[in-house]
Amino acid sequence: MQIRTAEFKCSNTRTDKLPAPALPEYAFIGRSNVGKSSLINMLTQRKGLAKTSQTPGKTQLINHFLINEKWYLVDLPGYGFAKTSRTNRGEWERFIRYYLKNRENLQCVFVLIDSRLEPQKVDLDFCSWLGEQGIPFVLVFTKADKQSKLKTEQTVSAFKKAMLQYFEEVPQEFTTSSEEKTGREELLAFIEDVNSRFVSPI
Ligand code: GTP
Ligand code: MG
Repeated sequence: MQIRTAEFKCSNTRTDKLPAPALPEYAFIGRSNVGKSSLINMLTQRKGLAKTSQTPGKTQLINHFLINEKWYLVDLPGYGFAKTSRTNRGEWERFIRYYLKNRENLQCVFVLIDSRLEPQKVDLDFCSWLGEQGIPFVLVFTKADKQSKLKTEQTVSAFKKAMLQYFEEVPQEFTTSSEEKTGREELLAFIEDVNSRFVSPI
Protein backbone atom coordinates (compact mmCIF):
# COMPACT_ATOMS: atom_id res chain seq x y z
CA MET A 1 0.00 0.00 0.00
CA GLN A 2 1.22 3.49 -0.84
CA ILE A 3 0.89 6.18 1.80
CA ARG A 4 -0.29 9.25 -0.08
CA THR A 5 -1.40 11.39 2.84
CA ALA A 6 -0.88 11.23 6.59
CA GLU A 7 -2.19 13.98 8.81
CA PHE A 8 -2.55 14.57 12.51
CA LYS A 9 -6.27 14.80 13.32
CA CYS A 10 -6.69 15.25 17.05
CA SER A 11 -5.46 14.49 20.56
CA ASN A 12 -7.94 13.48 23.22
CA THR A 13 -8.07 12.78 26.90
CA ARG A 14 -11.72 11.88 26.67
CA THR A 15 -13.20 9.05 24.68
CA ASP A 16 -16.41 10.99 23.92
CA LYS A 17 -14.48 13.48 21.77
CA LEU A 18 -12.96 10.97 19.37
CA PRO A 19 -13.59 11.18 15.60
CA ALA A 20 -16.76 9.47 14.37
CA PRO A 21 -16.11 5.72 14.12
CA ALA A 22 -16.78 5.62 10.37
CA LEU A 23 -13.29 4.54 9.25
CA PRO A 24 -11.16 1.54 10.20
CA GLU A 25 -8.78 2.22 13.06
CA TYR A 26 -5.55 0.61 14.34
CA ALA A 27 -4.13 1.38 17.78
CA PHE A 28 -0.47 1.12 18.79
CA ILE A 29 0.15 0.16 22.38
CA GLY A 30 3.02 -1.15 24.46
CA ARG A 31 5.42 -0.21 27.23
CA SER A 32 6.73 3.33 27.33
CA ASN A 33 9.69 3.85 25.04
CA VAL A 34 9.07 0.62 23.08
CA GLY A 35 8.86 2.62 19.84
CA LYS A 36 5.14 3.20 19.12
CA SER A 37 5.49 6.75 17.85
CA SER A 38 8.63 5.89 15.87
CA LEU A 39 6.80 3.03 14.16
CA ILE A 40 3.94 5.33 13.14
CA ASN A 41 6.47 7.70 11.60
CA MET A 42 8.25 4.84 9.85
CA LEU A 43 5.01 3.44 8.38
CA THR A 44 3.84 6.84 7.16
CA GLN A 45 7.35 8.01 6.17
CA ARG A 46 6.68 11.27 8.01
CA LYS A 47 9.51 11.84 10.47
CA GLY A 48 7.88 14.22 12.94
CA LEU A 49 4.26 13.12 12.61
CA ALA A 50 4.09 11.34 15.97
CA LYS A 51 6.27 12.87 18.68
CA THR A 52 9.09 10.59 19.84
CA SER A 53 11.48 10.90 22.75
CA GLN A 54 14.26 9.09 24.57
CA THR A 55 12.40 9.83 27.79
CA PRO A 56 9.57 7.37 28.47
CA GLY A 57 6.09 8.86 28.78
CA LYS A 58 6.24 11.17 25.78
CA THR A 59 2.81 10.25 24.38
CA GLN A 60 0.12 11.21 26.92
CA LEU A 61 -3.04 11.36 24.85
CA ILE A 62 -5.04 9.36 22.34
CA ASN A 63 -3.66 10.73 19.07
CA HIS A 64 -5.48 10.13 15.80
CA PHE A 65 -3.67 10.23 12.46
CA LEU A 66 -5.72 10.02 9.28
CA ILE A 67 -4.01 8.02 6.53
CA ASN A 68 -4.94 8.28 2.85
CA GLU A 69 -8.18 9.85 4.09
CA LYS A 70 -9.41 6.29 4.58
CA TRP A 71 -8.15 4.90 7.89
CA TYR A 72 -6.75 5.92 11.27
CA LEU A 73 -3.55 5.09 13.07
CA VAL A 74 -3.81 5.77 16.79
CA ASP A 75 -0.83 6.50 19.01
CA LEU A 76 -1.48 5.69 22.66
CA PRO A 77 0.46 6.44 25.84
CA GLY A 78 2.71 3.63 27.01
CA TYR A 79 1.84 1.35 29.87
CA GLY A 80 4.19 0.43 32.71
CA PHE A 81 5.44 3.98 32.98
CA ALA A 82 6.18 4.65 36.63
CA LYS A 83 7.01 8.36 36.61
CA THR A 84 3.50 9.68 37.21
CA SER A 85 1.82 8.89 40.51
CA ARG A 86 0.15 5.58 41.06
CA THR A 87 -3.35 7.12 41.01
CA ASN A 88 -2.61 9.02 37.85
CA ARG A 89 -1.37 5.82 36.24
CA GLY A 90 -4.52 4.02 37.33
CA GLU A 91 -6.63 6.67 35.66
CA TRP A 92 -4.67 6.42 32.44
CA GLU A 93 -5.07 2.69 32.37
CA ARG A 94 -8.81 2.91 32.93
CA PHE A 95 -9.12 5.43 30.16
CA ILE A 96 -7.11 3.38 27.68
CA ARG A 97 -8.94 0.19 28.57
CA TYR A 98 -12.26 1.98 28.17
CA TYR A 99 -11.18 3.16 24.72
CA LEU A 100 -9.99 -0.31 23.67
CA LYS A 101 -13.17 -2.01 24.90
CA ASN A 102 -15.64 0.43 23.41
CA ARG A 103 -14.21 1.77 20.17
CA GLU A 104 -16.49 0.29 17.53
CA ASN A 105 -14.24 0.87 14.52
CA LEU A 106 -11.08 -0.50 16.18
CA GLN A 107 -9.98 -3.27 13.82
CA CYS A 108 -6.84 -4.44 15.50
CA VAL A 109 -4.50 -3.51 18.33
CA PHE A 110 -0.78 -3.63 17.58
CA VAL A 111 0.93 -4.69 20.79
CA LEU A 112 4.54 -3.53 20.55
CA ILE A 113 7.16 -5.56 22.34
CA ASP A 114 10.85 -4.75 22.68
CA SER A 115 12.63 -7.50 20.76
CA ARG A 116 15.66 -7.25 23.06
CA LEU A 117 13.90 -8.31 26.24
CA GLU A 118 12.91 -11.60 27.78
CA PRO A 119 9.11 -12.01 28.03
CA GLN A 120 7.83 -9.28 30.37
CA LYS A 121 4.93 -9.90 32.72
CA VAL A 122 3.33 -6.54 31.95
CA ASP A 123 3.18 -7.42 28.21
CA LEU A 124 1.85 -10.92 28.82
CA ASP A 125 -0.78 -9.58 31.24
CA PHE A 126 -1.86 -6.97 28.74
CA CYS A 127 -2.17 -9.53 25.93
CA SER A 128 -4.16 -11.80 28.17
CA TRP A 129 -6.52 -8.94 29.05
CA LEU A 130 -7.04 -8.23 25.32
CA GLY A 131 -7.76 -11.91 24.80
CA GLU A 132 -10.31 -12.00 27.62
CA GLN A 133 -12.07 -8.97 26.16
CA GLY A 134 -12.10 -10.49 22.69
CA ILE A 135 -10.20 -7.53 21.24
CA PRO A 136 -8.25 -8.57 18.12
CA PHE A 137 -4.51 -7.95 18.32
CA VAL A 138 -1.19 -8.81 16.71
CA LEU A 139 2.34 -8.76 18.15
CA VAL A 140 4.90 -6.31 16.81
CA PHE A 141 8.48 -6.82 17.94
CA THR A 142 10.43 -3.54 17.78
CA LYS A 143 14.04 -2.32 17.55
CA ALA A 144 15.27 -5.42 15.71
CA ASP A 145 18.22 -3.40 14.39
CA LYS A 146 19.71 -3.27 17.87
CA GLN A 147 20.80 -6.91 17.87
CA SER A 148 21.46 -9.91 15.66
CA LYS A 149 18.70 -11.63 13.72
CA LEU A 150 19.26 -14.78 15.74
CA LYS A 151 18.83 -12.95 19.05
CA THR A 152 15.55 -11.43 17.80
CA GLU A 153 14.31 -14.85 16.71
CA GLN A 154 15.11 -16.20 20.15
CA THR A 155 13.18 -13.45 21.95
CA VAL A 156 10.23 -13.82 19.61
CA SER A 157 10.00 -17.54 20.20
CA ALA A 158 10.43 -17.12 23.97
CA PHE A 159 7.55 -14.64 24.01
CA LYS A 160 5.33 -16.91 21.94
CA LYS A 161 6.12 -19.81 24.22
CA ALA A 162 5.18 -17.72 27.28
CA MET A 163 1.95 -16.71 25.57
CA LEU A 164 0.93 -20.31 25.11
CA GLN A 165 0.37 -20.44 28.87
CA TYR A 166 -2.52 -18.04 28.33
CA PHE A 167 -3.66 -18.86 24.80
CA GLU A 168 -4.27 -21.91 22.70
CA GLU A 169 -2.71 -20.22 19.71
CA VAL A 170 -0.44 -17.26 19.32
CA PRO A 171 -1.59 -14.25 17.28
CA GLN A 172 0.15 -13.14 14.12
CA GLU A 173 3.53 -11.50 14.67
CA PHE A 174 5.69 -8.93 12.91
CA THR A 175 9.34 -8.05 13.44
CA THR A 176 10.19 -4.41 12.85
CA SER A 177 12.90 -1.79 12.98
CA SER A 178 11.93 1.85 12.60
CA GLU A 179 15.59 2.67 11.96
CA GLU A 180 15.93 0.26 9.06
CA LYS A 181 12.28 0.22 7.93
CA THR A 182 12.04 -3.51 8.53
CA GLY A 183 8.50 -4.89 8.53
CA ARG A 184 6.96 -1.86 6.85
CA GLU A 185 5.60 -3.66 3.77
CA GLU A 186 4.25 -6.52 5.88
CA LEU A 187 2.40 -4.26 8.32
CA LEU A 188 0.93 -2.12 5.55
CA ALA A 189 -0.19 -5.22 3.63
CA PHE A 190 -1.88 -6.51 6.78
CA ILE A 191 -3.71 -3.20 7.28
CA GLU A 192 -4.75 -3.07 3.62
CA ASP A 193 -6.21 -6.53 3.88
CA VAL A 194 -8.21 -5.70 7.03
CA ASN A 195 -9.34 -2.38 5.51
CA SER A 196 -10.80 -4.23 2.52
CA ARG A 197 -13.20 -6.07 4.85
CA PHE A 198 -14.28 -3.07 6.92
CA VAL A 199 -17.97 -2.35 7.28
CA SER A 200 -18.76 0.98 8.92
CA PRO A 201 -20.69 0.61 12.20
CA ILE A 202 -22.45 3.95 11.57
P1 GTP B 1 6.12 6.74 24.76
O1 GTP B 1 5.33 7.66 23.89
O2 GTP B 1 6.95 7.45 25.77
O3 GTP B 1 5.28 5.67 25.36
O4 GTP B 1 7.24 6.01 23.86
P2 GTP B 1 7.08 5.32 22.40
O5 GTP B 1 6.73 3.91 22.56
O6 GTP B 1 6.22 6.15 21.51
O7 GTP B 1 8.61 5.34 21.89
P3 GTP B 1 9.28 6.33 20.82
O8 GTP B 1 8.81 6.04 19.44
O9 GTP B 1 9.19 7.73 21.33
O10 GTP B 1 10.81 5.79 20.87
C1 GTP B 1 11.55 5.75 22.07
C2 GTP B 1 13.05 5.74 21.73
O11 GTP B 1 13.41 4.54 21.06
C3 GTP B 1 13.48 6.87 20.82
O12 GTP B 1 14.74 7.34 21.25
C4 GTP B 1 13.57 6.23 19.45
O13 GTP B 1 14.48 6.86 18.59
C5 GTP B 1 14.03 4.82 19.80
N1 GTP B 1 13.56 3.83 18.80
C6 GTP B 1 12.28 3.59 18.46
N2 GTP B 1 12.19 2.62 17.52
C7 GTP B 1 13.46 2.23 17.25
C8 GTP B 1 14.06 1.27 16.37
O14 GTP B 1 13.39 0.54 15.61
N3 GTP B 1 15.41 1.16 16.39
C9 GTP B 1 16.19 1.92 17.21
N4 GTP B 1 17.51 1.72 17.16
N5 GTP B 1 15.68 2.84 18.05
C10 GTP B 1 14.35 3.01 18.08
MG1 MG C 1 4.98 7.73 21.95
